[in-house]
Amino acid sequence: MTKDIKLNRRFFMKGTGAAALLGGAAIGSSSSFAAGLGQSTPMSTGVNFDEGYNRVGKNSIKFDLIKMFNPGKQLDVGMGIADMDFRTMPQITAALKKRLETENWGYEIPPLDLPDNTVAWNKRRYNTDVPKGNILNSVGVLDGVLSTLMAFGKEGDKVIVQTPTYSSFFTTIHQAGMHEAENEMKLVNGRYEIDLDDFEQHVKDGARLFILCNPQNPTGNCWTADEMRSVGDICNKYGVLVLADEIHCDFIMGENKYVPYASLGEEYAQNSITYKSTSKSFNLAAHRTGYMFSDNREYIDKVLKGGHQRLLLNIMGMIASNVAYKHGDTYIDEQNAYLTKNAKFVEQYCAENIPLIKYKVHEGTYLAWLDCRELFEKLDAENKAIELTEYNKANNVTATDFFGVTSIKTYRTGDYMKEWFMDNAKIDINPGENYGKGGVGFMRMNLATNQKMLKLALDNIVKAIDTI
Ligand SMILES: Cc1ncc(COP(=O)(O)O)c(C=O)c1O
Repeated sequence: MTKDIKLNRRFFMKGTGAAALLGGAAIGSSSSFAAGLGQSTPMSTGVNFDEGYNRVGKNSIKFDLIKMFNPGKQLDVGMGIADMDFRTMPQITAALKKRLETENWGYEIPPLDLPDNTVAWNKRRYNTDVPKGNILNSVGVLDGVLSTLMAFGKEGDKVIVQTPTYSSFFTTIHQAGMHEAENEMKLVNGRYEIDLDDFEQHVKDGARLFILCNPQNPTGNCWTADEMRSVGDICNKYGVLVLADEIHCDFIMGENKYVPYASLGEEYAQNSITYKSTSKSFNLAAHRTGYMFSDNREYIDKVLKGGHQRLLLNIMGMIASNVAYKHGDTYIDEQNAYLTKNAKFVEQYCAENIPLIKYKVHEGTYLAWLDCRELFEKLDAENKAIELTEYNKANNVTATDFFGVTSIKTYRTGDYMKEWFMDNAKIDINPGENYGKGGVGFMRMNLATNQKMLKLALDNIVKAIDTI
């Protein structure tokens, strides 16, 4: 043990990188903790997903913040931000409670088997080899994406994203002083497909960075190996770095399959960095822990040289992540079965009761991308949004955002609809425009709640539409 602590200290002092900070290869292999690492202990979770978890009054963004921004309005179901309304896996709560018993919060050794458990989770579930020595801590997935953009690009560069895509990619790209190059996807027979010609045109126009979202938030695509190879080949040919955000990889509906980008073959693995975390899979977002890795050591070194914060993460997050990857197989399987049931329920409910909203069970994530174009049309949402914006400009009607910035309250079509759903159906869902080109007419609904809440939300929509 003394030897381990000395090693830790040497790594901290010399700062040789992530392995040290995550308790990586050098520490793990020299440690007595290392024996038998990375083996899963499947445990019954005992979590009743149907019971759900009431998050009102617990500082949840999904319910409490939305209520703060909508004073006087009734919110029955928050379905915006991407987290879940389930009780945490009991083994995680137990481990955190145990740590709380130690009434000291000085610098401490992280769980030494976390790197092994991270590697083992990915191997066990996806038969993919995460290079243990090349894992970097990251406070969140977006923090890793940001430091990569800054290490590999410069201000003014273009970053390709495939829209509709995760809204905060835009914020992160702007934070890096860069611009998004939107490779708008094509909706073919209800499934989004990549527009390869347009993708290649962006590359020919100079883009050298590409954020892949696999599975895709918000459209729910689990990209196939062939689909990813087709863009990957263009990236390899022109020297475009692939940032593979695979944070949603553990949410797979039914028989669909998640294919890790780095598993496509050596040349794809060598030209990519992958970002993951336990934060979505086990609903640990408040703990702020994530990780990134690449088979290409030079890429990892470049990210580090670029100033990536490779500090220890929050100890509670590391403990929680470790337990999750060690014991979480059953939990994830049960959760996926429940979420798949939810998705099927919404599909059937919409088909039978809400003909103005179209939805087919998606492949991955727990997000439903609702096609509300007919409803928008019926409500004349586009014109209503224009009228409201003009009125607000003429009458100096303002709104203050989360960061305290006040400005004239303007409306995109989807903003008008978000308000319509809140006022009439008492639910909070996100406008498609948040996700870039191709988003108008769609709304993103988070299905990670219990079926009672889901039914309440859908019943509310039916009642709201009845009043039109
Ligand atoms: C695709 C995707 N990437 C990243 C994030 C954010 O991850 P983090 O909170 O770890 O930065 C989200 C959250 O919704 C997401 O959907």
